Amino acid sequence: MSLQSELQHRVASALRAAGIEESLAVVTTAADTRFGDYQTNAAMVAAKALKKNPREVAASILSHLKVEDLCKAPTVAGAGFINFTVLDTALSDAVNEVARDERLGVETVPKPKTIIIDFSSPNVAKPMHVGHIRSTILGDSLSRIARHLGHRVITDNHIGDWGTQFGKVIYGWKHFLDKDALEQAPIAELVRLYREVNALEETDPAIKETVRHELVKLQQGDVENLEIWKQAVALSWKEFERLYGLLGVSFDERLGESFYNDALGPLVERLLAEKIAVVSEGAVCIFFPGSPELEEKPCLIRKSDGGFLYATTDLATLEYREARWKPDAVWYVTGAPQQLHFEQVFASARRMGVTTDLRHIAFGSILGEDRKMMKTRSGENVELGGLLAEAIERALAVVAEKNPDLPKAGQEEVARIIGLGAVKYADLMQHRLTDYVFSWEKMLSFQGNTAPYLQNAYVRIRSIFRKATAEGISTESAPVTISDPAERALALQFLQFGEILHTVLEDQRPNLLCLYLYELADRFHRFYEACPILKSEGSVRSSRLALAGVTAEVLKTGLSLLGIGVPERM
Ligand code: ARG
Repeated sequence: MSLQSELQHRVASALRAAGIEESLAVVTTAADTRFGDYQTNAAMVAAKALKKNPREVAASILSHLKVEDLCKAPTVAGAGFINFTVLDTALSDAVNEVARDERLGVETVPKPKTIIIDFSSPNVAKPMHVGHIRSTILGDSLSRIARHLGHRVITDNHIGDWGTQFGKVIYGWKHFLDKDALEQAPIAELVRLYREVNALEETDPAIKETVRHELVKLQQGDVENLEIWKQAVALSWKEFERLYGLLGVSFDERLGESFYNDALGPLVERLLAEKIAVVSEGAVCIFFPGSPELEEKPCLIRKSDGGFLYATTDLATLEYREARWKPDAVWYVTGAPQQLHFEQVFASARRMGVTTDLRHIAFGSILGEDRKMMKTRSGENVELGGLLAEAIERALAVVAEKNPDLPKAGQEEVARIIGLGAVKYADLMQHRLTDYVFSWEKMLSFQGNTAPYLQNAYVRIRSIFRKATAEGISTESAPVTISDPAERALALQFLQFGEILHTVLEDQRPNLLCLYLYELADRFHRFYEACPILKSEGSVRSSRLALAGVTAEVLKTGLSLLGIGVPERM
């Protein structure tokens, strides 16, 4: 049990003894570390319910509280906070216990859930926009954290491989496909076809009609059009996979929109028969009478021309997932502009009897330095491949400058870890709902809340260990004994690792993990400055080495849960 849970346990016993509701025993890290390491507001909450003086309630709790083996005498501060200052001995014991644990104090959840995480989901033959980049990074990190906490996670890339864009692509393919370009950069060529046909349609209504006809033919199973469609999807997927490989992102399933195509017609008929959906002005809709938000916003599932919609596919997808995986939760990681869509889909699902916890994990935009939606210089959507290549290239310049003696291949390897880490971290460190400005300088800086800063802290620790070995100093794991304030601060932060991941997953906010790791690295640097490691002797040295070693383990594990690697040198 973690120190924090142990304290919570003790507070619960004291509350019980004082005749107070036990569930009020919530212990958190102290908001103001001048008053202690941990605190509880139990007395304040209880006092409010009992209409009593909080300080009196606190005194009564304290009279029943037995924590002398863990803390100095608890104190009451402010409006009734009870503060705990952990004894150095207890802190050392707690650190040693977590250090021996290969999960670093992170317990798995008592009741694992089956969670489907739907993320990345780019559209074939349409430009991948930054929203897909954010979805990929965020979804991957959430999947890693959920798995680490013991949940059964199914990741599904719901790619947009069946949509009206294929009318344009097929028309373009038949009339002006550049085969070489398709070989070289398939997505770029498909996007070019899409764009050119788009432009042609604007000027020529006859072309628009032909394009529509190509789409209808595809939907009716025309052999030639199906073949073009298949090739377009396969080529795009190959390129997506290359990027996922570079990013270290993988999926359990890739059931795109086309997979559900045959289910759409029967689904709409069934919803009509069950009176969940109704015909309205020739279209089929699900209405939500009595819902203040959706009263006026029915979910359209079949257009009057017979076409199906994005929502229809999502409902069919959900039915499939329910039947196959019986999930406890389904998380959709897509941008904030899709909020209404998901509200409608979720409300429709409820009408269909789905009780699963459905969540739209929304996020804001990535902005350019001009604070407008990030675009390339020529005003186009930023292409992920190019962005990652630039990140690695810029990181290489930094690495070559800082570490000119590293052989070229080594520099490239490190640059890849740093460049990709920088892009991912810059995204994850933001609250997911805020828009943020994309800045190469900031994200690649070795100072501040950045991936290179954290990676550098890890590398510094590794180099201390190499130096120790070179000097014949034992690096065998040794007991940690806390005494210096800088050691205390680092140890307390280290112990929070077991708590933070659960909080991160509850709100789906990896930025809290980033902040945690940043604070850990910062406290490590302060410890490093205040407490000589290799220059000290005996058990002090082995203790400090051990403390540095476990810090490195947490940095590495924490970053890996964000999908970010660590180099051994940089
Ligand atoms: N392809 C969609 C888009 O680019 C995202 C799909 C998200 N997942 C879902 N089940 N709707 O906007």
